[in-house]
Amino acid sequence: MIAREYAESWLEKTQGALLRTMGLKKHFPVLGGVLKRPVAWVRAVDGVDIWIQRGETLGLVGESGCGKTTLGRTIIRLLDPTEGHIFYDLPEETIKRIIEAEERGDKQELKRLREQFDLAAMKGKKLKEYRRRMQIVFQNPLTALNPRMMVKDIVAEPLVVQRIAKGEAAMERVLEALQAVGLGREHLRRYPHEFSGGQRQRIAIARALVLRPEFLVLDEPTSAVDVSVRARLLKLLGELQEKYGLTYLFISHDLSQVQVISDRVAVMYLGKIVELADTQTIFEKPLHPYTQALFSAKPVPDPVLARKKKRIVLKGDVPSPVNPPSGCRFHPRCLKRFEPCDKEEPHLIEVEPGHWVACHLYPPG
Ligand SMILES: Nc1ncnc2c1ncn2[C@@H]1O[C@H](COP(=O)(O)OP(=O)(O)O)[C@@H](O)[C@H]1O
Ligand SMILES: [Mg+2]
Repeated sequence: MIAREYAESWLEKTQGALLRTMGLKKHFPVLGGVLKRPVAWVRAVDGVDIWIQRGETLGLVGESGCGKTTLGRTIIRLLDPTEGHIFYDLPEETIKRIIEAEERGDKQELKRLREQFDLAAMKGKKLKEYRRRMQIVFQNPLTALNPRMMVKDIVAEPLVVQRIAKGEAAMERVLEALQAVGLGREHLRRYPHEFSGGQRQRIAIARALVLRPEFLVLDEPTSAVDVSVRARLLKLLGELQEKYGLTYLFISHDLSQVQVISDRVAVMYLGKIVELADTQTIFEKPLHPYTQALFSAKPVPDPVLARKKKRIVLKGDVPSPVNPPSGCRFHPRCLKRFEPCDKEEPHLIEVEPGHWVACHLYPPG
């Protein structure tokens, strides 16, 4: 696809979204030799376009190691992107100005605009301002919560760091956040180890909420808690979304949870989005062979259905993102591969309205 065509289709597909990424990349250096210089790059996120509407939950699924966490952290700038754009709550006109400056090759204007408007290129005060609007709940609350700090200080920390409130005013906000997640005044002076896994994750959510953000990255938020409390945590996240009008990127490899909480689902494979559609469509009619294989492994509660359902076994592991396979990255494991698959990289194509697939089985046009 030529740049012009790509930009046009990108603008159309991402239109009106609160968050829109364009060609986002995050590569990690592999250091080697005595000089510890980069000898290779881990291409963890390698050209990702996603878009999330305000108030929506986008589920992000894929096998372990395919880049979900890196994408989530890069979007909110916990990691610095290697390349690409992150547009957050920006008018269409501003985005177009940036794309046009890029197309003209007007480096000075592009730099000026990006530092002001493109989250991928922001620094200092500007970045901090945006960071306040986006928070993350990590996979493991035990490592995310400082064991030597009392709950009141853990939850108040973002307020103090951002210099928003301290003392009494901070405590009021802390209490409000704790109450929102079903905890209360009696928990303020306790330490993380005094809580159950589910409660600890509630504390982590309170800490994310205390800055009154608009957008949350939830990185496998229930994977460290007992199965019995998972449903309740999911319910809480749904209620909080409703109450505060939150927008979620919900990362998980647990498809049942993704199905419950997501409005749309994006499937990631080796640094790329391979399929994206609304939840019902993608679960009922997955089109990418990778999605089909991934979803066929999902346990089915109904035993009759389970017998009828054919399981497609995914052979081998995810290849290394240091040297991803040529063409379509999934081709070495794909049962449906044919002529172009090891040569040409497929682009995300809108196969049906709102259903995007990057696979040569579904050619453009
Ligand atoms: N800080 C890092 N340095 C080098 N490689 C990393 C780093 N973080 C993640 N990776 C690599 O990037 C790839 C994607 O990892 P990750 O985003 O954690 O995937 P997921 O969350 O889908 O399991 C993996 O190959 C992982 O080893
Ligand atoms: Mg992860």
